[in-house]
Amino acid sequence: MRTEAEYRDMIQRSLEPQLQSLGAVPEQLMDAMRYSLLAGGKRLRPVMLLASCDMAGGSLEEAMPYACALEMIHTYSLIHDDLPGMDNDDLRRGKPTNHKVFGEGLAILAGDGLLNGAMELALGASTRMAERRGILATEILARHAGVTGMIAGQTLDVTMENSTPTEALVSYIHTHKTSDLIQAPMEMGLILAGCGPAQIEQGRVYGEHMGIAFQIVDDLLDVTGDPAVLGKNTGMDARKMTWVALRGMEGARRDAETHIDAAVAALKKLPWDTAFFENMARASLDRMN
Ligand code: IPE
Ligand code: IPE
Ligand code: MG
Ligand code: MG
Ligand code: MG
Repeated sequence: MRTEAEYRDMIQRSLEPQLQSLGAVPEQLMDAMRYSLLAGGKRLRPVMLLASCDMAGGSLEEAMPYACALEMIHTYSLIHDDLPGMDNDDLRRGKPTNHKVFGEGLAILAGDGLLNGAMELALGASTRMAERRGILATEILARHAGVTGMIAGQTLDVTMENSTPTEALVSYIHTHKTSDLIQAPMEMGLILAGCGPAQIEQGRVYGEHMGIAFQIVDDLLDVTGDPAVLGKNTGMDARKMTWVALRGMEGARRDAETHIDAAVAALKKLPWDTAFFENMARASLDRMN
């Protein structure tokens, strides 16, 4: 396996050509899509996809279009999340949000474009693959991004603002708005490597707990983070059902640790050296951005 930085570099080099491979896109739309996609960001999800595929003996070259597609879907979710009708944020990935630069109409279309472009890339790669692995990975991507996944979580996140948080509701929101897109790369990477259902399920369970902890830490960083390091404004979650609103700062930190322990326990059931993912999970508790 490679290092996290090596996987990230491979993704950084591939995003632009994958986007350009979509063909002749109106210039203003391409500018708006590139602005957010190439702005930086941790690339956590595509790194997880390449690393899980690599760990299980799959091909990084084959996995790359799916990794880029996932990052495009994640980026679309951020562009829409920042819109005035959703979280109304003006800083993202260290730069003014997409709608602040391009206007709301083009920001909505840039999000739509990244989502549709992602599916076009994943389906194109799957069509060129002899076996069914690609199409199965694409279905998983569509489901986790879709109306029982990320969009479901975002729906409750925006419609339940200003309500009293309950464990059931905050869990639902975190599981879907965030954890779904962190389960996706584990399942997709393992599917692309040709793994069977038991291994794919353990990968999913790792992603599920890692994803919930990731959102709990995101909620903590909204209170304690430094906007200059975070690349987004803090103190934005006053109306939201966050884990911090549910449990307080210390309780939230403890719950994040518990989820990371559960994520690591799932790794123990896999037949490979899983140190990469154990380190990634533990490091996510102390991330600053
Ligand atoms: C931000 O995701 C949205 C959440 C799900 C918390 P990331 O923290 O992965 O954002 P980038 O991709 O690094 O910008
Ligand atoms: C975002 O959750 C989840 C998605 C974009 C799907 P947040 O609203 O907490 O993310 P940030 O804090 O704006 O990055
Ligand atoms: Mg939000
Ligand atoms: Mg937000
Ligand atoms: Mg947040």
